[in-house]
Amino acid sequence: MHKTTAIYPGSFDPPTNGHLDLIERGSKIFDELVVAILRNPDKDPLFNVSERVAMLEALTGHYSNVRVDTFDGLTVEYAARVGASSVLRGIRALSDYEYELQMALMNRKLRPELETVFMMPAEKYSYLSSRLVREVAKLGGSVKGLVPELVEQNLRGKLDPAYKFSEFGEHKQVTSESRKSRSRKKA
Ligand code: PNS
Repeated sequence: MHKTTAIYPGSFDPPTNGHLDLIERGSKIFDELVVAILRNPDKDPLFNVSERVAMLEALTGHYSNVRVDTFDGLTVEYAARVGASSVLRGIRALSDYEYELQMALMNRKLRPELETVFMMPAEKYSYLSSRLVREVAKLGGSVKGLVPELVEQNLRGKLDPAYKFSEFGEHKQVTSESRKSRSRKKA
């Protein structure tokens, strides 16, 4: 029987629960799903490509039909190389539609036989994006429930040392005053 392979391309910097929601949905409708991380030399990412591969592999290891890969150049050419007939993309809100439509139509122009399949993540992730996760985490807000625990831990490692998660799972800005008061308590 003909096997359907789809690629799910993106930056995944970092992977969020919205991405994982989409991977789960995609794994149910395609025989094989390749999560394809763009190696983009123009961007200055928070997590390098190997870190993103490691996170996504750990987070998707339990799906027998999902694998993680990286690519550069055109998405349509990568899709052809791995024998994919579809590109999976998530649409959260109407605001995503215009950009996604442009990409889908450009990809269709470049390779008409490649179909773009849009899926909606769960409603609770409709406002979630990697960009906002990076911003909130960098500024000391809690990203609990928005990213998997593994990503949360890795974000903690990446954060400005001035920001630390509190014991209650929230971030707390460590000011020189609170640092002094902590060392006074310890002493
Ligand atoms: O997660 P992102 O950043 O929204 O993903 C965007 C991505 C990687 C799907 C898009 O930038 C892409 O396909 N880049 C590869 C280059 C390419 O093919 N460009 C033409 C697409 S219209």
